[in-house]
Amino acid sequence: MKLYEIVFSATGRTQKVVDIISSIFPADPNKIDLSDYNMENQNYNLSQDDFCIVAVPVYGGRVPAPAAKRLLNINGNGATALLIAVYGNRAIDDCLLELKDILVKQGFNCKAAISAVAEHSMMPQFATNRPDKEDQEELKKFALQIKEKLENNTLSDEVTVPGKRPYVKASNLPLKIKVNKNCIKCGKCAKRCPVQAISFEDPSLTDSKKCITCMRCIEECPQKARALPSALMAATSKLMKSKFEGRKENILYI
Ligand SMILES: Cc1cc2nc3c(=O)[nH]c(=O)nc-3n(C[C@H](O)[C@H](O)[C@H](O)COP(=O)(O)O)c2cc1C
Repeated sequence: MKLYEIVFSATGRTQKVVDIISSIFPADPNKIDLSDYNMENQNYNLSQDDFCIVAVPVYGGRVPAPAAKRLLNINGNGATALLIAVYGNRAIDDCLLELKDILVKQGFNCKAAISAVAEHSMMPQFATNRPDKEDQEELKKFALQIKEKLENNTLSDEVTVPGKRPYVKASNLPLKIKVNKNCIKCGKCAKRCPVQAISFEDPSLTDSKKCITCMRCIEECPQKARALPSALMAATSKLMKSKFEGRKENILYI
């Protein structure tokens, strides 16, 4: 059995969840980075013996659009998939269903799924520092259950996940990244942008039609020169507060 990690993680929170789950499986994972722009030009063929952890963050209740597109470059050829949707304490809406639909079309056997909470990358005041110790224990327990069923060949043929079709409408948030005078035009943001929305010549220019507000450029800027408009973010967070309340749960679907 070859283990694959097929992951879109703009700011590392989804990857953190994957690392916890993957640690239960003995094999060294082969990694396919769905957040790498260059992945769009590559094709992958997996096989029936492969076990794939396919993980995405929830964006507006959906699979992030570039991840959905790049998954079409991977042929499952009967590989077994564990689907993971990582969310920031609001809801996953139709993300797991959309992910499953894509993977089934690509020839994967979707046999298990997990929804897991991680700190909200855009509003880190929600689910702050999650996955925490309690989450780690729980996610490891989920992984052990899956591993055992995988070894005993007792996983169901096709996992049932929440969600409905048509999926919730994808929304592109009207947020524009602000760049302040600390920017030294080092270009790290442009190189690391998952959708090449930032000008290499002048990184203060971000194409808002391409930008998916994934937060990577803001989190990775060595000068802390990039930010979302703070007044708008404060208003959005206040408006949506009730939807983020309480400790939301991790769920295993097998
Ligand atoms: C553009 C955007 C949209 C998001 N939409 C949702 C959402 O609909 N529901 C939710 O609970 N969290 C949402 N989140 C929070 C992320 O799913 C969560 O923080 C995730 O852990 C980020 O993963 P990453 O660090 O791997 O990029 C959103 C975050 C971003 C940046």
